[in-house]
Amino acid sequence: MKPIEIAEGIYDVGVTDWNIRDFHGYSTYLGTTYNAFLILDEKVVLIDTVKKPHADQHLEKIAQIIDPKKIDMVISNHTEMDHSGAIPRVMHRIGEDKPILCSKMGLKNLSMHFRQKYNYKSVENTEKLSIGKRQLTFLETRMVHWPDSMFTYLEKDGILFSSDGFGQHYAGWEKFDDQVGDAIMAHAKKYFANILLLYSPKILKLIDAVSQAKLDIRMICPDHGIYWRKEPEKILNAYVQWSKQVPRKKALVIYDTMWESTEKMAGAIAAGLIEEEIETMVMHLRKWHRSDIMTEVLDAGAVIVGSPTLNNGLFPTVADFLTYMKGLKPKNKIAGAFGSYGWSGESVKLIRQELQSMKLEVLEPGLRIQYIPDADGIQACADFGKRIAQRLKAQQA
Ligand code: FEO
Repeated sequence: MKPIEIAEGIYDVGVTDWNIRDFHGYSTYLGTTYNAFLILDEKVVLIDTVKKPHADQHLEKIAQIIDPKKIDMVISNHTEMDHSGAIPRVMHRIGEDKPILCSKMGLKNLSMHFRQKYNYKSVENTEKLSIGKRQLTFLETRMVHWPDSMFTYLEKDGILFSSDGFGQHYAGWEKFDDQVGDAIMAHAKKYFANILLLYSPKILKLIDAVSQAKLDIRMICPDHGIYWRKEPEKILNAYVQWSKQVPRKKALVIYDTMWESTEKMAGAIAAGLIEEEIETMVMHLRKWHRSDIMTEVLDAGAVIVGSPTLNNGLFPTVADFLTYMKGLKPKNKIAGAFGSYGWSGESVKLIRQELQSMKLEVLEPGLRIQYIPDADGIQACADFGKRIAQRLKAQQA
Protein backbone atom coordinates (compact mmCIF):
# COMPACT_ATOMS: atom_id res chain seq x y z
CA MET A 1 0.00 0.00 0.00
CA LYS A 2 1.25 3.47 -0.88
CA PRO A 3 2.22 5.50 2.20
CA ILE A 4 -0.20 8.28 3.06
CA GLU A 5 1.15 11.79 3.48
CA ILE A 6 -0.65 12.88 6.64
CA ALA A 7 0.80 16.41 6.49
CA GLU A 8 3.29 18.02 4.14
CA GLY A 9 6.47 15.92 4.27
CA ILE A 10 5.12 13.62 6.99
CA TYR A 11 4.21 10.07 6.05
CA ASP A 12 2.41 7.21 7.69
CA VAL A 13 4.83 4.28 7.35
CA GLY A 14 3.05 1.95 9.76
CA VAL A 15 1.34 -1.31 8.90
CA THR A 16 -2.13 -2.76 9.27
CA ASP A 17 -2.49 -6.07 11.09
CA TRP A 18 -5.89 -6.96 9.67
CA ASN A 19 -6.26 -10.39 11.22
CA ILE A 20 -4.92 -10.18 14.74
CA ARG A 21 -7.75 -11.22 17.04
CA ASP A 22 -6.01 -11.45 20.41
CA PHE A 23 -3.69 -8.71 21.59
CA HIS A 24 -2.26 -10.06 24.84
CA GLY A 25 -5.72 -10.99 26.08
CA TYR A 26 -7.62 -8.05 24.51
CA SER A 27 -10.03 -9.04 21.72
CA THR A 28 -9.06 -7.11 18.60
CA TYR A 29 -11.96 -8.31 16.48
CA LEU A 30 -11.31 -5.64 13.84
CA GLY A 31 -7.52 -6.05 13.90
CA THR A 32 -5.17 -3.18 14.65
CA THR A 33 -2.45 -1.00 13.17
CA TYR A 34 1.10 -0.30 14.29
CA ASN A 35 1.59 3.30 13.28
CA ALA A 36 4.99 4.78 12.52
CA PHE A 37 5.88 8.11 10.95
CA LEU A 38 8.54 9.41 8.62
CA ILE A 39 9.35 13.14 8.72
CA LEU A 40 11.31 14.58 5.81
CA ASP A 41 13.21 17.71 6.80
CA GLU A 42 16.89 18.61 6.80
CA LYS A 43 17.10 15.62 9.08
CA VAL A 44 14.99 12.59 8.21
CA VAL A 45 13.29 11.20 11.27
CA LEU A 46 11.46 7.93 11.85
CA ILE A 47 9.07 7.96 14.81
CA ASP A 48 8.51 4.46 16.16
CA THR A 49 8.65 1.20 14.23
CA VAL A 50 6.26 -1.76 14.10
CA LYS A 51 5.83 -5.29 15.44
CA LYS A 52 8.67 -7.60 14.38
CA PRO A 53 6.79 -9.79 11.84
CA HIS A 54 5.79 -6.65 9.90
CA ALA A 55 9.30 -5.18 9.63
CA ASP A 56 9.71 -5.88 5.90
CA GLN A 57 6.39 -4.25 5.04
CA HIS A 58 7.36 -1.24 7.17
CA LEU A 59 10.71 -0.91 5.39
CA GLU A 60 9.08 -1.32 1.97
CA LYS A 61 6.77 1.57 2.80
CA ILE A 62 9.69 3.74 3.84
CA ALA A 63 11.53 2.78 0.65
CA GLN A 64 8.62 4.06 -1.45
CA ILE A 65 9.35 7.53 -0.05
CA ILE A 66 13.08 7.62 0.53
CA ASP A 67 16.09 5.35 0.64
CA PRO A 68 15.96 4.06 4.24
CA LYS A 69 19.70 4.78 4.55
CA LYS A 70 18.81 8.48 4.47
CA ILE A 71 17.03 8.23 7.80
CA ASP A 72 19.12 10.24 10.27
CA MET A 73 17.53 9.12 13.52
CA VAL A 74 14.84 6.94 15.04
CA ILE A 75 12.66 8.21 17.86
CA SER A 76 11.29 5.47 20.08
CA ASN A 77 8.30 6.91 21.91
CA HIS A 78 7.53 3.55 23.49
CA THR A 79 9.51 0.34 23.83
CA GLU A 80 6.67 -2.18 23.94
CA MET A 81 7.38 -4.73 21.24
CA ASP A 82 4.49 -3.78 18.97
CA HIS A 83 6.41 -0.53 18.33
CA SER A 84 10.01 -1.58 18.88
CA GLY A 85 10.08 -5.15 17.57
CA ALA A 86 11.25 -4.04 14.11
CA ILE A 87 14.12 -1.89 15.46
CA PRO A 88 16.87 -4.46 14.72
CA ARG A 89 15.68 -4.88 11.09
CA VAL A 90 15.29 -1.13 10.68
CA MET A 91 18.73 -0.37 12.16
CA HIS A 92 20.33 -3.05 10.00
CA ARG A 93 18.88 -1.31 6.94
CA ILE A 94 19.43 2.35 7.86
CA GLY A 95 22.81 1.98 9.55
CA GLU A 96 23.45 0.65 13.04
CA ASP A 97 25.33 3.76 14.14
CA LYS A 98 22.30 6.04 13.64
CA PRO A 99 20.95 7.45 16.92
CA ILE A 100 17.85 6.08 18.60
CA LEU A 101 16.29 8.81 20.74
CA CYS A 102 14.18 7.73 23.67
CA SER A 103 13.43 8.53 27.30
CA LYS A 104 15.85 7.49 30.06
CA MET A 105 13.65 4.51 30.86
CA GLY A 106 13.37 3.81 27.15
CA LEU A 107 17.14 3.52 26.97
CA LYS A 108 17.13 0.99 29.81
CA ASN A 109 14.32 -1.02 28.23
CA LEU A 110 15.76 -1.09 24.72
CA SER A 111 19.16 -2.12 26.08
CA MET A 112 17.47 -5.09 27.74
CA HIS A 113 15.32 -5.93 24.71
CA PHE A 114 18.16 -6.05 22.22
CA ARG A 115 21.60 -7.52 22.69
CA GLN A 116 23.00 -5.25 20.00
CA LYS A 117 24.36 -2.01 21.51
CA TYR A 118 22.77 0.69 19.41
CA ASN A 119 23.57 4.38 19.55
CA TYR A 120 20.92 5.23 22.16
CA LYS A 121 20.50 8.85 23.21
CA SER A 122 18.13 9.64 26.03
CA VAL A 123 16.17 12.88 25.93
CA GLU A 124 14.84 14.95 28.81
CA ASN A 125 11.24 15.95 29.40
CA THR A 126 10.44 19.10 27.32
CA GLU A 127 13.81 18.87 25.54
CA LYS A 128 13.65 20.37 22.06
CA LEU A 129 15.40 19.28 18.92
CA SER A 130 15.60 21.16 15.65
CA ILE A 131 15.48 18.96 12.55
CA GLY A 132 15.55 21.79 10.03
CA LYS A 133 12.39 23.80 9.44
CA ARG A 134 10.74 21.87 12.21
CA GLN A 135 11.30 21.51 15.91
CA LEU A 136 10.49 18.47 17.99
CA THR A 137 9.65 18.59 21.69
CA PHE A 138 9.84 15.43 23.78
CA LEU A 139 7.29 15.03 26.54
CA GLU A 140 7.85 12.35 29.13
CA THR A 141 4.61 10.46 29.86
CA ARG A 142 5.94 7.97 32.38
CA MET A 143 3.46 5.17 33.17
CA VAL A 144 1.09 6.24 30.43
CA HIS A 145 1.36 3.44 30.04
CA TRP A 146 4.92 2.08 30.48
CA PRO A 147 7.80 3.65 32.42
CA ASP A 148 9.49 4.56 29.14
CA SER A 149 6.50 6.15 27.39
CA MET A 150 6.85 9.58 25.87
CA PHE A 151 5.11 11.80 23.32
CA THR A 152 6.83 13.77 20.58
CA TYR A 153 5.31 17.10 19.60
CA LEU A 154 6.02 18.62 16.20
CA GLU A 155 5.73 22.36 16.49
CA LYS A 156 5.34 23.66 12.92
CA ASP A 157 2.64 21.16 12.04
CA GLY A 158 0.94 21.04 15.45
CA ILE A 159 1.13 17.23 15.54
CA LEU A 160 1.32 15.28 18.77
CA PHE A 161 2.75 11.80 18.21
CA SER A 162 1.18 10.23 21.25
CA SER A 163 2.44 6.66 21.35
CA ASP A 164 -0.35 4.43 22.77
CA GLY A 165 -2.24 7.44 24.18
CA PHE A 166 -5.51 8.16 22.32
CA GLY A 167 -5.12 4.96 20.31
CA GLN A 168 -7.65 2.39 19.25
CA HIS A 169 -7.29 -1.19 18.08
CA TYR A 170 -8.97 -0.53 14.76
CA ALA A 171 -7.91 -1.69 11.31
CA GLY A 172 -9.85 -0.16 8.44
CA TRP A 173 -9.28 1.61 5.15
CA GLU A 174 -9.72 4.89 7.00
CA LYS A 175 -6.82 6.85 8.46
CA PHE A 176 -8.55 9.83 10.08
CA ASP A 177 -11.34 10.48 12.60
CA ASP A 178 -13.46 12.34 10.04
CA GLN A 179 -13.46 9.27 7.79
CA VAL A 180 -14.78 6.96 10.51
CA GLY A 181 -17.03 9.36 12.38
CA ASP A 182 -18.38 8.78 15.88
CA ALA A 183 -18.09 4.99 15.57
CA ILE A 184 -14.40 5.31 16.39
CA MET A 185 -15.20 6.46 19.94
CA ALA A 186 -16.32 2.96 20.97
CA HIS A 187 -12.91 1.61 19.94
CA ALA A 188 -11.09 4.43 21.74
CA LYS A 189 -13.17 3.76 24.85
CA LYS A 190 -12.38 0.05 24.75
CA TYR A 191 -8.68 0.84 24.39
CA PHE A 192 -8.80 3.22 27.34
CA ALA A 193 -10.74 0.77 29.54
CA ASN A 194 -8.40 -2.13 28.83
CA ILE A 195 -4.99 -0.49 28.56
CA LEU A 196 -5.04 2.83 30.36
CA LEU A 197 -7.74 2.75 33.03
CA LEU A 198 -5.34 2.02 35.89
CA TYR A 199 -3.34 5.13 35.01
CA SER A 200 -6.37 7.46 35.14
CA PRO A 201 -4.90 9.81 37.81
CA LYS A 202 -1.70 10.21 35.76
CA ILE A 203 -3.68 10.81 32.59
CA LEU A 204 -5.63 13.64 34.23
CA LYS A 205 -2.35 15.23 35.32
CA LEU A 206 -0.81 14.73 31.89
CA ILE A 207 -3.74 16.32 30.06
CA ASP A 208 -3.66 19.19 32.52
CA ALA A 209 0.08 19.66 31.89
CA VAL A 210 -0.47 19.55 28.11
CA SER A 211 -3.22 22.15 28.40
CA GLN A 212 -1.04 24.36 30.68
CA ALA A 213 1.74 24.15 28.09
CA LYS A 214 -0.76 25.62 25.59
CA LEU A 215 0.51 23.45 22.77
CA ASP A 216 -1.17 24.16 19.48
CA ILE A 217 -2.39 20.62 18.81
CA ARG A 218 -3.92 20.32 15.35
CA MET A 219 -3.56 16.59 14.97
CA ILE A 220 -2.99 13.70 17.38
CA CYS A 221 -1.29 10.66 15.90
CA PRO A 222 -1.35 7.62 18.17
CA ASP A 223 0.52 4.39 17.48
CA HIS A 224 -2.71 2.43 16.94
CA GLY A 225 -5.76 3.18 14.84
CA ILE A 226 -6.83 6.43 13.21
CA TYR A 227 -5.43 9.96 13.57
CA TRP A 228 -7.43 12.71 15.20
CA ARG A 229 -7.31 15.64 12.78
CA LYS A 230 -10.88 16.88 12.69
CA GLU A 231 -11.48 17.13 16.41
CA PRO A 232 -8.37 16.33 18.45
CA GLU A 233 -10.11 17.99 21.41
CA LYS A 234 -12.85 15.35 21.23
CA ILE A 235 -10.51 12.55 22.27
CA LEU A 236 -8.76 14.79 24.82
CA ASN A 237 -12.13 15.60 26.42
CA ALA A 238 -13.18 11.94 26.34
CA TYR A 239 -9.95 10.98 28.15
CA VAL A 240 -10.69 13.53 30.87
CA GLN A 241 -14.20 12.13 31.25
CA TRP A 242 -13.10 8.48 31.24
CA SER A 243 -10.23 9.16 33.64
CA LYS A 244 -12.64 10.61 36.18
CA GLN A 245 -14.55 7.30 36.15
CA VAL A 246 -17.86 9.01 36.84
CA PRO A 247 -20.32 6.17 37.48
CA ARG A 248 -23.60 6.09 35.57
CA LYS A 249 -26.90 4.59 36.65
CA LYS A 250 -25.83 1.42 34.95
CA ALA A 251 -25.37 -2.08 36.34
CA LEU A 252 -23.57 -5.11 34.98
CA VAL A 253 -24.48 -8.63 36.02
CA ILE A 254 -21.40 -10.68 35.11
CA TYR A 255 -21.41 -14.42 35.69
CA ASP A 256 -20.72 -17.95 34.61
CA THR A 257 -22.82 -20.99 35.30
CA MET A 258 -22.53 -24.79 35.43
CA TRP A 259 -26.13 -26.04 35.49
CA GLU A 260 -27.99 -22.75 34.87
CA SER A 261 -28.72 -22.04 38.54
CA THR A 262 -26.29 -19.12 38.78
CA GLU A 263 -27.67 -18.02 35.41
CA LYS A 264 -31.21 -18.04 36.80
CA MET A 265 -29.96 -15.92 39.70
CA ALA A 266 -28.31 -13.49 37.24
CA GLY A 267 -31.56 -13.12 35.33
CA ALA A 268 -33.59 -12.47 38.48
CA ILE A 269 -31.05 -9.94 39.82
CA ALA A 270 -31.19 -8.15 36.46
CA ALA A 271 -35.01 -8.14 36.61
CA GLY A 272 -34.84 -6.44 40.02
CA LEU A 273 -32.48 -3.79 38.66
CA ILE A 274 -34.61 -3.21 35.55
CA GLU A 275 -37.73 -2.87 37.67
CA GLU A 276 -35.95 0.03 39.32
CA GLU A 277 -35.19 1.47 35.87
CA ILE A 278 -31.47 0.89 36.04
CA GLU A 279 -29.69 0.44 32.72
CA THR A 280 -28.67 -3.21 33.02
CA MET A 281 -26.48 -5.60 31.05
CA VAL A 282 -26.32 -9.34 31.68
CA MET A 283 -22.97 -10.79 30.63
CA HIS A 284 -22.13 -14.49 30.52
CA LEU A 285 -18.37 -14.87 30.77
CA ARG A 286 -18.14 -17.50 28.03
CA LYS A 287 -20.25 -15.39 25.63
CA TRP A 288 -18.61 -12.04 26.28
CA HIS A 289 -14.92 -11.35 25.96
CA ARG A 290 -13.33 -10.00 29.13
CA SER A 291 -12.11 -6.91 27.26
CA ASP A 292 -15.63 -6.06 26.02
CA ILE A 293 -16.99 -6.46 29.55
CA MET A 294 -14.22 -4.18 30.83
CA THR A 295 -15.31 -1.49 28.37
CA GLU A 296 -18.75 -1.56 29.99
CA VAL A 297 -17.24 -1.57 33.49
CA LEU A 298 -15.63 1.81 32.74
CA ASP A 299 -18.79 3.85 33.31
CA ALA A 300 -20.95 1.35 35.19
CA GLY A 301 -22.09 2.33 38.67
CA ALA A 302 -22.60 -1.25 39.82
CA VAL A 303 -20.77 -4.49 39.05
CA ILE A 304 -22.42 -7.66 40.31
CA VAL A 305 -20.43 -10.85 39.87
CA GLY A 306 -21.75 -14.40 40.10
CA SER A 307 -20.07 -17.79 40.15
CA PRO A 308 -21.01 -21.35 40.99
CA THR A 309 -18.67 -23.08 43.41
CA LEU A 310 -16.40 -25.47 41.56
CA ASN A 311 -14.05 -27.68 43.58
CA ASN A 312 -14.30 -25.32 46.56
CA GLY A 313 -13.34 -22.36 44.39
CA LEU A 314 -14.42 -19.97 41.70
CA PHE A 315 -15.45 -21.00 38.22
CA PRO A 316 -12.28 -20.42 36.09
CA THR A 317 -13.76 -17.72 33.84
CA VAL A 318 -14.91 -15.77 36.89
CA ALA A 319 -11.45 -15.97 38.46
CA ASP A 320 -9.96 -14.86 35.14
CA PHE A 321 -12.26 -11.86 34.89
CA LEU A 322 -11.78 -10.78 38.50
CA THR A 323 -7.99 -10.93 38.07
CA TYR A 324 -8.24 -8.90 34.87
CA MET A 325 -10.57 -6.29 36.34
CA LYS A 326 -8.50 -5.96 39.52
CA GLY A 327 -5.38 -5.14 37.53
CA LEU A 328 -7.18 -2.31 35.75
CA LYS A 329 -8.19 -0.69 39.09
CA PRO A 330 -11.75 0.45 38.39
CA LYS A 331 -13.11 3.01 40.84
CA ASN A 332 -16.38 4.47 42.12
CA LYS A 333 -18.50 1.33 41.89
CA ILE A 334 -20.97 -0.53 44.02
CA ALA A 335 -20.32 -4.25 43.84
CA GLY A 336 -22.10 -7.43 44.77
CA ALA A 337 -21.51 -11.19 44.71
CA PHE A 338 -23.84 -14.08 44.11
CA GLY A 339 -23.80 -17.73 43.16
CA SER A 340 -25.40 -21.12 43.38
CA TYR A 341 -23.62 -23.98 45.12
CA GLY A 342 -24.06 -27.68 45.87
CA TRP A 343 -22.45 -28.37 49.26
CA SER A 344 -19.46 -26.21 50.22
CA GLY A 345 -20.36 -22.85 48.57
CA GLU A 346 -17.15 -20.80 48.82
CA SER A 347 -17.58 -18.83 45.58
CA VAL A 348 -19.56 -15.87 46.94
CA LYS A 349 -17.08 -15.29 49.75
CA LEU A 350 -14.19 -15.49 47.30
CA ILE A 351 -15.82 -12.99 44.92
CA ARG A 352 -16.50 -10.61 47.81
CA GLN A 353 -12.88 -10.81 48.91
CA GLU A 354 -11.71 -9.93 45.41
CA LEU A 355 -14.16 -7.04 45.07
CA GLN A 356 -13.14 -5.71 48.49
CA SER A 357 -9.50 -5.89 47.54
CA MET A 358 -10.38 -3.61 44.60
CA LYS A 359 -11.73 -1.10 47.14
CA LEU A 360 -15.21 -1.16 45.62
CA GLU A 361 -18.23 -0.62 47.84
CA VAL A 362 -19.31 -4.22 48.32
CA LEU A 363 -22.89 -4.85 49.33
CA GLU A 364 -23.08 -7.23 52.27
CA PRO A 365 -23.95 -10.00 52.48
CA GLY A 366 -23.59 -11.64 49.09
CA LEU A 367 -26.32 -13.93 47.87
CA ARG A 368 -25.88 -17.73 47.95
CA ILE A 369 -28.48 -20.26 46.91
CA GLN A 370 -28.06 -24.01 47.31
CA TYR A 371 -28.64 -25.99 44.12
CA ILE A 372 -31.57 -24.65 42.06
CA PRO A 373 -33.27 -21.38 43.06
CA ASP A 374 -36.97 -21.89 43.89
CA ALA A 375 -39.60 -19.13 43.83
CA ASP A 376 -38.33 -17.71 47.14
CA GLY A 377 -34.76 -17.83 45.82
CA ILE A 378 -35.75 -15.98 42.65
CA GLN A 379 -37.51 -13.37 44.76
CA ALA A 380 -34.38 -13.02 46.93
CA CYS A 381 -32.37 -12.40 43.77
CA ALA A 382 -34.82 -9.74 42.50
CA ASP A 383 -34.68 -8.09 45.94
CA PHE A 384 -30.86 -8.19 45.80
CA GLY A 385 -31.04 -6.42 42.43
CA LYS A 386 -33.44 -3.84 43.88
CA ARG A 387 -31.15 -3.19 46.86
CA ILE A 388 -28.28 -2.53 44.52
CA ALA A 389 -30.51 -0.28 42.40
CA GLN A 390 -31.51 1.73 45.45
CA ARG A 391 -27.92 2.06 46.59
CA LEU A 392 -26.96 3.18 43.10
CA LYS A 393 -29.75 5.79 43.03
CA ALA A 394 -28.73 7.06 46.48
CA GLN A 395 -25.13 7.36 45.32
CA GLN A 396 -26.21 9.36 42.29
CA ALA A 397 -28.70 11.58 44.11
FE1 FEO B 1 0.98 -0.38 21.58
FE2 FEO B 1 2.09 -0.24 24.83
O1 FEO B 1 2.12 -0.77 23.03
